[in-house]
Order: sequence, then C-alpha cells, then structure tokens
Amino acid sequence: MDSPLRTLTMLASILFLLVRPATAHVAAWHKSMWCLNGTTPGVDNPNNREPGTPLYNLMYEDWWFHHINKCDEFPPAEGDFLDLPANGHFTIEHATDRAFTSLSYDGGMAGVYIDGKDHLDGLDGEGECIKVPNIHAQNESMAAGTAFAISYESELSKVNTDNLVVFTVLYNTPWRRLATYEVPNLPACPEEGCICAWGWIAEGCGQPNMYMLGFRCRVTGEPGHLPLAAPQSPLYCTDDKAASESALRKNPRCVKGAKKFLSWQQKSGNTVPENEWANKHTALLQFPGYNARMGFRNGA
Ligand SMILES: *[C@@H]1O[C@H](CO)[C@@H](O)[C@H](O)[C@H]1NC(C)=O
Ligand SMILES: *[C@@H]1O[C@H](CO)[C@@H](O)[C@H](O)[C@H]1NC(C)=O
Repeated sequence: MDSPLRTLTMLASILFLLVRPATAHVAAWHKSMWCLNGTTPGVDNPNNREPGTPLYNLMYEDWWFHHINKCDEFPPAEGDFLDLPANGHFTIEHATDRAFTSLSYDGGMAGVYIDGKDHLDGLDGEGECIKVPNIHAQNESMAAGTAFAISYESELSKVNTDNLVVFTVLYNTPWRRLATYEVPNLPACPEEGCICAWGWIAEGCGQPNMYMLGFRCRVTGEPGHLPLAAPQSPLYCTDDKAASESALRKNPRCVKGAKKFLSWQQKSGNTVPENEWANKHTALLQFPGYNARMGFRNGA
C-alpha cells in the first residue's frame, strides 16, 4: 500500500480501536492459525479479536479449538504452516488484537507489548492487576505461562485430549508481543502437517477462564524418530511456580513426561482433575497454569 493511503487506513483503525470497549484478552497470532481473518466468511478483519475471547463454563464441544465463535471453522490458508524446527525454536506474537501484530497494517501498529505499545517504563501494576491491557497479571513474574501442544493428526476433527501433547512451555507469558518457544526433538508430521494448539490459563486477575487456539504446524529441520508418549492429565504438585527442574523431578506428586493440554472451569472435558491436595492449599495454587505448579518445566 502507498504511504498516504496506508496512513489514512491506520488513522481510521486507530479511531476505531479507541472507541471500542476495552474487553480485549490475549491470543497467539501467526499466519498458520485458525480464525486469522475473523469469523465472518469472506471478510478479512485486520482488527480481529475473535481468537482471544476467553473460554469459560462451556461444554467440551464448544471450547475445544474455540468452537464457541466458530474459530475452528476458519482454517489457515493452504500451505500456511507453523514451522517447528526440531531442537530449535519458533516465534509467534501475543496480542490483544490482530491490529497489534505484523499480520495487520504491515506491522505499523505493533509494539513491544501485546497492546501495540512500547511501555518504555515497563508494565507494572504495582501489586494490582493490570487492567489495560487486560493481561491478567500484576507484573511479568505473575504472568502464568503459555504453551503449545501438538497432535500427529492432520484433521482438526481427529484431535482429542488423548492425542494432543504439550511440547513446549514459556514461563511468564503472555507479556511482550514476541514470544519464542523451544522445540524438542519432535518426530516428523504426516505430509498434510500436524495440528498444534496454543494454551493459556492466567493466574487470577479476573474470571478463571482459559484460552485455546488451533494452528497448522509441521516439524522441520532434522526431526527425531521416537513417537511422543500418550499424554497424562497434569496434577497440581507444588506451590512454587518457579520450582527448579530437579525439584520437579524429585517431587513424586508431579506427573513426569508427556502431559495433556490444560483445560479447567468448563462444564465438560476438563483435563485438570479436582484435586484434594491442591484444594487444601491457597486459592492462588488452584490456578493450574503452564508452570511448575502443574509439573511443567520451562522450555521444550
Ligand atoms: C484472509 O484474507 C486474505 C485477504 O482477503 C486472503 O488472501 C487470505 O487467503 C485469507 N486467509 C484465510 C485463512 O482465509
Ligand atoms: C509482582 O506482583 C506480585 C503480586 O502483586 C507481588 O507479590 C510481587 O512482589 C511482584 N513482583 C515484582 C518483581 O514486582
């Protein structure tokens, strides 16, 4: 686009964003995602917020891959994959709106943080939950962690909680826009690719909801040969969300190895079991994030 036209388009969208109510939550953005253009057939919405709406108190069939607003019915374009280099890393963008990513306005409205701003003095709620942007944390150390899971099925309809395995966790996210995840020695995907899912459960600061989104992904580089083990339901196992790797290994309550995608506070399909041990601990502990509390270590 020519710059005068681009500037006009951007000004119009800034106005549009300013008058919208601040109900934004966070999504992970990449061209390989479901629901990239929004949920209106034939419309490409550069200010799309549909993928980031929270999931709460829903039946499995409604929260699974964000069916509640039909995100799961808008696949990525043919040939758009999230490339996962075996033993390498990949980067996605966390943002409250597609406008604030490189996928809209040639990245002209993207900033350091999830709301298109740079927050040069940092982002800190000084003990209180930060409401603008709605990042569900008081500061970076309270950001609960996000994860990507993979299923070796190529069709979304064949993915279920028993074949979707969490393979990478990034502690203290979502926080900044750019988020880089490590990839373990994953085996190759079928020709048509794998299905990946992004997940996030925040630690309080609002409704105890969760987030799930689909991506078409594939393993690149030199894939491993060992298939992934069947995932187990993760269990709350420590109140130290930054417990060291060796502490997690030694803790008999932590589920070792492949774990399921976290789902909780839904009417059905929860993978986080009600846990008496956890219920005896603090309210905070009961938020089952992608962190040490559920036995997840940072990284691949
Ligand atoms: C999104 O919209 C653009 C522009 O119309 C189009 O080229 C692209 O194929 C659409 N992507 C998907 C996944 O529908
Ligand atoms: C982050 O916020 C939490 C909760 O308010 C607080 O306990 C902690 O001290 C804060 N950490 C930093 C580094 O400010």
